[in-house]
Amino acid sequence: MPDPSTTSWGQSNQFLQRAYDLTGAADAEQLYNEWADSYDFDIVHEYASPQRAVEAVIKNLDDNKPNFKILDAGCGTGLVGDEFKKSSLNGKFTLDGLDLTPGMLAAARKKNIYTDLETADLTKPINRTDGSYDVVTCVGTLTKGHVGPAVLNEFVRVVAKGGLVVGTVHEDIWESGGFKSVVEGLEKAGQASVVSTDGFGILKGEWSGGIMLVLRKK
Ligand SMILES: C[S@@+](CC[C@H](N)C(=O)[O-])C[C@H]1O[C@@H](n2cnc3c(N)ncnc32)[C@H](O)[C@@H]1O
Repeated sequence: MPDPSTTSWGQSNQFLQRAYDLTGAADAEQLYNEWADSYDFDIVHEYASPQRAVEAVIKNLDDNKPNFKILDAGCGTGLVGDEFKKSSLNGKFTLDGLDLTPGMLAAARKKNIYTDLETADLTKPINRTDGSYDVVTCVGTLTKGHVGPAVLNEFVRVVAKGGLVVGTVHEDIWESGGFKSVVEGLEKAGQASVVSTDGFGILKGEWSGGIMLVLRKK
């Protein structure tokens, strides 16, 4: 999610400002239900994370399967789905989405890209069986005031052996929010290998602001 202080439109975007000041799931649901109808219009011209996350998935998918089963956690209105559809994976994926906010899921549903869209609070265990996806993406949701690092354990659990977890983490909370330490724990426990933790630009034309976390399940 973009930083309102560095965007040309951020000053006037009350929603974006409120998003970084969220205090919990109830607050998040209220904000995103209000924002759902204008969310794509408000941010799509400057927001690069969905495209960059899909590029990271494609770069690291080494299995040439006819169909990849993907879970987009914190899918919002489905901007990640839009990018998968525009990508070389079009026609080769089945995409499910989870999100806290019914209004955001309703917007995603209209795009007809996602097979299964369900409400879920990612601060709680994910209602999916172990190893049921080839890829989990989580974009713009591992950020200030949103979802903490414990969910990474759940992402690794629901991905199949050799599968990928690709998440964008706001750089301000990579260490202070405990993401780096949870990732190191997963690696130490032999559950996942860290493919990359490169810095990337959350905004188009920029090259910093987020960490693109790519894990491969062992
Ligand atoms: C900035 S939006 C990102 C949406 C989409 N992935 C994108 O990049 O456009 C953050 C999303 O996180 C969701 N969210 C916030 N807290 C959550 C939680 N505890 N569990 C699940 N989703 C949550 C919101 O409903 C919202 O759709």
